[in-house]
Amino acid sequence: MTRAFDKVKNDPNRIIIFDTTLRDGEQSPGCSMNLEEKLKMAVLLDDLGVDVIEAGFPIASPGDFEAVNEIAKVVKNATVAGLCRAKQADIEASGNAIKPAGSKRIHTFISTSPLHMKYKLKMGPNSVIEAVHESVTLARGFTDDVEWSAEDASRTEDDFLCQCVETAINAGATTINIPDTVGYAIPEEYGRQIKMLFERVPNIDKAIISTHCHNDLGLAVANSLAGVENGARQVECTINGIGERAGNAALEEIVMTLRTRHDALPYKTGIDTTKITKTSRTLSTITGFSVQPNKAIVGANAFAHASGIHQDGMLKNNQTYEIMTPESVGLKESKLVLAKHSGRAAFKSKLEELGFDLSEQAFQDAFVRFKALADRKKQIFEDDLIALVEDEVIRENETVRFVSLQVQAGSKGPQIAELCVKVEGEEKCAKVEGNGPVDAIFKAIREIMPHEDARLQLYQVHAVTGGTDAQAEVTVRLEEGGKTVNGQGADADTLVASARAYIHALNKLLTKRESMNPQTAGDMAAP
Ligand code: KIV
Ligand code: ZN
Repeated sequence: MTRAFDKVKNDPNRIIIFDTTLRDGEQSPGCSMNLEEKLKMAVLLDDLGVDVIEAGFPIASPGDFEAVNEIAKVVKNATVAGLCRAKQADIEASGNAIKPAGSKRIHTFISTSPLHMKYKLKMGPNSVIEAVHESVTLARGFTDDVEWSAEDASRTEDDFLCQCVETAINAGATTINIPDTVGYAIPEEYGRQIKMLFERVPNIDKAIISTHCHNDLGLAVANSLAGVENGARQVECTINGIGERAGNAALEEIVMTLRTRHDALPYKTGIDTTKITKTSRTLSTITGFSVQPNKAIVGANAFAHASGIHQDGMLKNNQTYEIMTPESVGLKESKLVLAKHSGRAAFKSKLEELGFDLSEQAFQDAFVRFKALADRKKQIFEDDLIALVEDEVIRENETVRFVSLQVQAGSKGPQIAELCVKVEGEEKCAKVEGNGPVDAIFKAIREIMPHEDARLQLYQVHAVTGGTDAQAEVTVRLEEGGKTVNGQGADADTLVASARAYIHALNKLLTKRESMNPQTAGDMAAP
């Protein structure tokens, strides 16, 4: 039997957290990640304690296959799942991609609602039932951990859904997922559907029932919890709730609700909640998808108390206005760590403490930048070091490297950028006028390295710490031929950070190897 099955068997109130950040999340517009970024996220998710990591959709492209395959090699504890349609080539691609994983799952799906069967699949109910049986049977040839999903389940007729679920379990599926694909359900209705399956499907005890709720009406978390209350023991979710359209149920909200309201919802997960903040922040830095300030659990204001009455209450007893502590989600004050006179040894030991292992060259470059930063900024916080070093790390293998920038700006104009970069070791410079300093910088990069087909989709700046001398962290998103890349840059000078971010995105564009598999590109629209 599968690992998830054992966990629930040993504790009937254990909820399996199935994370689909790298699949449903990653396939949504603007959230695409390269291999390195997916691996970084997979390691963080494993560390966070998710039970299953859905690593991607291997048939979608060679890049997707490679990502699932590489994730399967690095994940230590979680089960690694690959998604596939009910098609032989898809299932084989998934089976092959997840092979290196210690614990592997194939997740196969087909639509079951009248609307999807008629217009999308152009298949009748009998053919769908046949496809369910064949796909699960084929998947079982690769692993005994097979999940079957009824796409658009919440708009599927009860009788037909029961028939499909029974067929999938008979063919060997050990997890049955009931997606609210279009985010249409309301909690009472979704809960009823899960309950109905327990009442009517004769072999239901041989599988774990799973929720997969989209957030089109803002009900994804409420629907998932209604599913749990009616017997579901797996919840599919994503970090920061990223995903198709309005997104998926947010992992952090599900987990913290179960923890905070254990009195009413007596279920538990294997998540180390103190790692939630770090995972959330890393994802938004990588994707450039910032979290709205008032977002539950991970928003910048989630633990901020602004009104006088609330602050007064908090000073008297923090339970007056705090239902969970910031520490419980890993939110800490950024610590003051180093100053101008700190030497190489102190810098090295702090980096080790923060978990960085830099090459000699990257360490030397980071130290030079730290000294320059310390000259400008009296107090260097942990977050400053993390931004600076991460900036250095992402630049290690860049073809185009930032060298220097001089900008003329201000109300009188013209705004001029004088930029020098190294392209494969050779220095190239350009002096360009623009509509504002950022425009001038980006034009200068385009003059040195023409890339006419790429469009700027996002330019976003945020301060790493408080204060006017805070470092700026900039994200730039470029789109070319329907593919997007995100670049990041950090510096005490916002314009330098902007140049670094654009150059980072450009390097990603240059090295982008992923290309859609022409065989599947047409019908690969995200499930
Ligand atoms: O939303 C959905 O129906 C899906 C399935 C493939 C699980 O993402
Ligand atoms: Zn989905």
